[in-house]
Formats: sequence, structure tokens, C-alpha cells
Amino acid sequence: MFTTLMNITQFFFTVVIGLYFLLQLVGQKSDDSAIARDSKQELERLHFMRRHTLTKPLTEQTRPAQLSDMIGQEDGIKALMIALGGKNPQHVLIYGPPGVGKTAAARVVMEYVKTTPDTPFSKDAPFIELDATTTHYDERGIADPLMGSVHDPIYQGAGAYGSAGVPQIKEGAVSKAHGGVLFLDEIGELSSVQMNRLLKVLEDGRVMYESAYYTKSNRNIPRHVRDVFENGMPADFRLIGATTRKPSEIPEALRSRCVEIYFDALTLPQREEIIKGAVGKLDVSVADELIKYMASFTVNGRDSVKIAQMLASKLKLEHKSTPDIWDVDWVLESCRYKKKSDSKEGL
Ligand SMILES: Nc1ncnc2c1ncn2[C@@H]1O[C@H](COP(=O)(O)OP(=O)(O)OP(=O)(O)O)[C@@H](O)[C@H]1O
Ligand SMILES: [Mg+2]
Repeated sequence: MFTTLMNITQFFFTVVIGLYFLLQLVGQKSDDSAIARDSKQELERLHFMRRHTLTKPLTEQTRPAQLSDMIGQEDGIKALMIALGGKNPQHVLIYGPPGVGKTAAARVVMEYVKTTPDTPFSKDAPFIELDATTTHYDERGIADPLMGSVHDPIYQGAGAYGSAGVPQIKEGAVSKAHGGVLFLDEIGELSSVQMNRLLKVLEDGRVMYESAYYTKSNRNIPRHVRDVFENGMPADFRLIGATTRKPSEIPEALRSRCVEIYFDALTLPQREEIIKGAVGKLDVSVADELIKYMASFTVNGRDSVKIAQMLASKLKLEHKSTPDIWDVDWVLESCRYKKKSDSKEGL
């Protein structure tokens, strides 16, 4: 009698436990299929987004693509070619006012240098652009787009690395630029901590990371992660720093490691030439005197191109092939360009 009771109890608990695991399995399966369904929908949305791209923005169309597209800045461009060319390219600091072609020149010079015989840059050497004003230093180092950062398991959630307690390394611009150029706009805005770290990387050609979760003895840590913690992440690149500040405002330690190059403000005829080139690329024909008139409202290459783009868009919208003074005035007024009282003289 007692044995029968025991058997019944045993059977009862076996059924309960069996049911419990069965329900867990069903629950997990329905979770899996919900994730799979969501993921499929998201993938379809991604593919749809990729199939529907816009045309090239006008800024892309007017951006200098080769050395001959650059207007003025002959000395600066020559100095850049000397500094970046040859067997041993150097780090560079470019000084100059905003919008006069510092970034544009660096890009086209780099493209040219890559084609020269002695250069250590390969044809697909990267040119990584980063604005120093967007690289706020975060003391905990959770996100550092310049140097890269370590994602400790505590921040990774339930992913494979997170649950195995493995810290993950997210490389920064200095490593993405490995083998090429890191163009750091507004380099004068880096904090002193960032500047010191950057100088160390320039010297070592690698970035070292630390994590409380990394220990040599932890056998869970994959070989590539161990390699980075032990030997550092490669970051061998040439730095081009650009700044609108004065040389005296830039740390001496950085200046002494770089070739210093100066870009000038653009003259009126140079701004005219930039507007002429831009309207040409945008397939609009504008009378020379109107170009001169527009240029007299601009101060640099960027706003010259912007006026040309607005004018070209207005004409396209209104199905006109050439502008008159009223079209130009409308653009100048709507973009709040300050009029000079004598600027209509000669029209
Ligand atoms: N000297 C130039 N020759 C031809 N185009 C120019 C020149 N300067 C500026 N431009 C035009 O203006 C755009 C902006 O120039 P760029 O970004 O090179 O200026 P920048 O000096 O780097 O400015 P910032 O200091 O604001 O970064 C270029 O893409 C180009 O279309
Ligand atoms: Mg720039």
C-alpha cells in the first residue's frame, strides 16, 4: 500500500516537473519565433531603405574632387604635398579661417599622394574625418570616438561576450585611420587629457586599453581580445589637424610634432571663381557680373558654394535656365546675406 502511494506521488511530481519544462520550452520557442518575426520585418525595412536613396546632395557635387578644382591656396597645397608625399609622410597642422578649403585640400592632396611611387600609403588607405568638438571626453571611457573604448560586460547586457564576462573593445578613429590619415577638424578644441592621449598614440602607433574585467589568467577571454589588452590596438596613421585658432593657442607639444601650414582668407576674385565653378557643375549659366555681385556678399568658399547651390535650386524649381538680378537678390535676402550699399554698382 505504502509503495503504491509512493509510486503515485512520484508519478505526480514527474508529471508536474515534466509539464513545467514543457511550458518553458514552448515559451522559449514562442519568444524565439517572435524575435525571428521582428528581425525579418526589420531586415525587410532595412533593405527597403537601402533601395530608396536620394540623389547626390549638391554639396557633394560641388566639392573639389581633384587638385585642379582647388582655387587659390597654392602655397598651402604645395606644403601639404611636400609634408604628406614621399617615403616618410609627416604629421600636419593646418591653420586658417573657416571655409577656405582646409578639409577639401587635405582630401584631394591625399588622393594624389596615394598615386605617387614612393608613398607608404596604399591605394585604399583610409582618410578618417572627425570633428574634435564632437569628441567630448567621458572620464569613464564608456564612449570615446577618438581613442576607442572598452565595453565592460556590465554595459553589454546578455550578449555572448556579456554573459561570459568578456570586455569588448570598440575601436576609435585613431585605429580606423591605421595606415592612412586622421583628419581632426578643430584640433584646438581637444581637452588637455585628450591631447595627451593623442600625443602618446602618435608616438607609439597603438592605443592601450584597460579594464577591471581583464586578467591574464581569465581563460574565457578570446585570443583577439587578449592580444589587444597585451599589445594594444594598432593606430599608426598620419595626423592632419585643422584649426581656426592662432598658433599660439595650440599646445607646443603638438606643434613641435607637426609641419605647420597656413591657409589664407580667399580674395574676391577667388570667391568669384569658386561660384563660377559651382554653378558650372550645377548646369546653370550665370552672367559674370552677377557672379561678381554674389561674391561680394561672401566671405569664404563655403558660403560662396552655398549661394550658388541655392540659386541653382531656385532656377530648377522655376524652370529657368539663367538668373536675373532679382533671383540673386532673393537668394541673398532669404539666406540673410548682408547687403553692402555699393554692391549693385556697375550692374
Ligand atoms: N579654396 C577653395 N577652392 C575650391 N573650393 C573651396 C575652397 N575653399 C572652400 N571651398 C568650397 O567650400 C567647401 C567647404 O570647404 P572646406 O570644408 O574645405 O573648408 P575648411 O577650411 O575645412 O572649413 P572649416 O574650418 O569650417 O572646417 C568645399 O567643399 C568647397 O566646395
Ligand atoms: Mg574643415
